[in-house]
Amino acid sequence: MNMSKSKCIRLGLIGAGRMGSFHGLTAARHIPGACLAAIADPTASQAARLAAELDVERVYTDPQQLLDDPQIDGVLIAAPARSHAELVIAAARAGKSVFCEKPMAITLDEADRAIAAAADARVTLQVGFNRRFAKSFRSAHLDVVAGRIGTPQLLRSLTRDPALNNPANSPQWVIFLETLIHDFDTLRYLNPGAEVVEVFVQADALIAPQFKDKGFLDTALVSLRFDNGALATAEANFQAVYGYDVRGEVFGSAGMLTMGGVNDSDLVRYLSSGVQADTQRLDTDLLRDAYVAELNHFVDCLRTGNKPIASGEDARAALAIARACIESYQQGQPVRVQGGRP
Ligand SMILES: NC(=O)c1ccc[n+]([C@@H]2O[C@H](COP(=O)([O-])OP(=O)(O)OC[C@H]3O[C@@H](n4cnc5c(N)ncnc54)[C@H](O)[C@@H]3O)[C@@H](O)[C@H]2O)c1
Repeated sequence: MNMSKSKCIRLGLIGAGRMGSFHGLTAARHIPGACLAAIADPTASQAARLAAELDVERVYTDPQQLLDDPQIDGVLIAAPARSHAELVIAAARAGKSVFCEKPMAITLDEADRAIAAAADARVTLQVGFNRRFAKSFRSAHLDVVAGRIGTPQLLRSLTRDPALNNPANSPQWVIFLETLIHDFDTLRYLNPGAEVVEVFVQADALIAPQFKDKGFLDTALVSLRFDNGALATAEANFQAVYGYDVRGEVFGSAGMLTMGGVNDSDLVRYLSSGVQADTQRLDTDLLRDAYVAELNHFVDCLRTGNKPIASGEDARAALAIARACIESYQQGQPVRVQGGRP
């Protein structure tokens, strides 16, 4: 889709929960030249609450009604993961460009169908890999591309959430499909052009062992091997008592880059009791600028027709790694990543 500079881009939000509320606010207030024109959520009270907060008039309980609305140019999908692929396909068929939260799909077949639907309809398809838009991760990527640290040899990426979020209601394999998927994408982003060919997983339920037999794991360590020889680790834990912790590292033949951290600001207190700093408790606080930047980029892609920095193909490649991780955990041995390159 190629749109003139002067036209306001009208966005529709599908899913008005925690992440949808944040994206809705961003779309309504922080994207020059774009506005939030409609909200859809099957829970009518969720949609109505956010619509009232953000002054949005058109509110739907059926996402298809929003997709049929001719006044919408692009949609932001922030519904639960298992509905993503079908929503992407329906949006593309309705001629709407799509920003879809991660994961774009749960199976590789779904991912292929979503990518094909967007390509057939010639609409933009961007996925919510927000770390690509964090200043330090973006600069690190550009440094690697420019050869400033030589050839990447060792990489690491980690995610630690501050508090366990209702394991009884969590979908199976959430640690691989919804958390570590960020780290798999980050590792690919920091080793551009290379693909992961093998993974080996060690994972457990160390925080809430009572949920382990229901497939809920809260701690995981993944070793990965890339096709350019680089080795990597990705790790996640759902109870970092000190705050939300996202970090990355690339070690190369000519140097090293490190990214991320937990601090709220650069204030450090040196007191008689020791040294103290405040930390962030929410992803949307720690990575706020990155979330806003990714939606600005989406609107920019709608205007220019450029391919987004985090594409449907990137979503598929990260999903292929996540699926191989599930197999590796089940088998207790290394597993080849199938179809990492579409
Ligand atoms: N990029 C990130 O860092 C990040 C962070 C948090 C969540 N997420 C992703 O965002 C998505 C939503 O997560 P959340 O924490 O906001 O969940 P949530 O449960 O808070 O909200 C989901 C909302 O979607 C609605 N919904 C349910 N089925 C729907 C459907 N078929 N169509 C439209 N709406 C539907 C629910 O009523 C609810 O309001 C998930 O895929 C999650 O992985 C991404």
